[in-house]
Amino acid sequence: MSAAGKGTSAWKSGVKRLLGRTGFDIVRSGNNLGGVDDFIPFEATMRAARASGMSVGDHIDTVMNGTPGATRSTIDELRALGVFAAGPATVLEIGPGSGRYLEKTLKECAPDRYEIYETAAPWADYLVNTFGVIALPTAGSSLAPTPDASVDLVQAHKVFNTVTFLCAVRYFFEMARVTRPGGRIVFDVMTETCLDPAAVRTWATQGGTGHGSFPAAMPRGMCVDLFASLGCGLEAGFLAPMGVASTEVLVFRKGA
Ligand SMILES: C[S@@+](CC[C@H](N)C(=O)[O-])C[C@H]1O[C@@H](n2cnc3c(N)ncnc32)[C@H](O)[C@@H]1O
Repeated sequence: MSAAGKGTSAWKSGVKRLLGRTGFDIVRSGNNLGGVDDFIPFEATMRAARASGMSVGDHIDTVMNGTPGATRSTIDELRALGVFAAGPATVLEIGPGSGRYLEKTLKECAPDRYEIYETAAPWADYLVNTFGVIALPTAGSSLAPTPDASVDLVQAHKVFNTVTFLCAVRYFFEMARVTRPGGRIVFDVMTETCLDPAAVRTWATQGGTGHGSFPAAMPRGMCVDLFASLGCGLEAGFLAPMGVASTEVLVFRKGA
């Protein structure tokens, strides 16, 4: 093998090893105070996506994660549940990373304003420059720059299984606060629905080194009760692939 080939293969195996570890963490992303504080490297990922001829999101699903169509299928489920039908005017996403859900969300609806809270600065800059979204200062679990009851759709994908319990639940309170009456809250968490004995064995034997907080579990009942106490009822839940097993996407609607 050539030196270049060896370099590429070392990079690939490094990426695989790290992805096996957390599903996503490679590059330090700044001020995340709650758990895994790294994200995949911007330049290398963009280069690899360009070489594969795919969008960066499809490249991550297909090549890096080995789950082609994973983002698409979650977006399809959300469409079938009517999440985009109301034409959300304001969308807020926590931890969009490469923007693989953001890009597909923008194909489903045309919000006037799309706010992001993202700790990985190079990715946040890329999303601002590519999609015209608005990156807001991201500190721990606060959505302070966003006013109460101002957002029609609040979403976070593959974020709350990479941060600590406190980071996630502090965001939950904030998500309920910023959502407009009638608005939707969509996020995934690794609930007991995803954790039958076979799945736990799969994580234990194939889930990487267990570095950091990934994959962090979250009780489903706690989420449902907490959001109910904040005026948001559970509308639906469905499974989506994550790492070596799955995560559960929950859809809440804030009461009018
Ligand atoms: C596993 S990645 C998922 C990225 C993207 N949502 C996706 O599914 O492709 C987790 C994302 O959350 C970001 N992140 C980590 N801690 C955060 C925090 N406290 N607030 C906002 N974003 C955070 C990371 O930088 C990264 O972009």
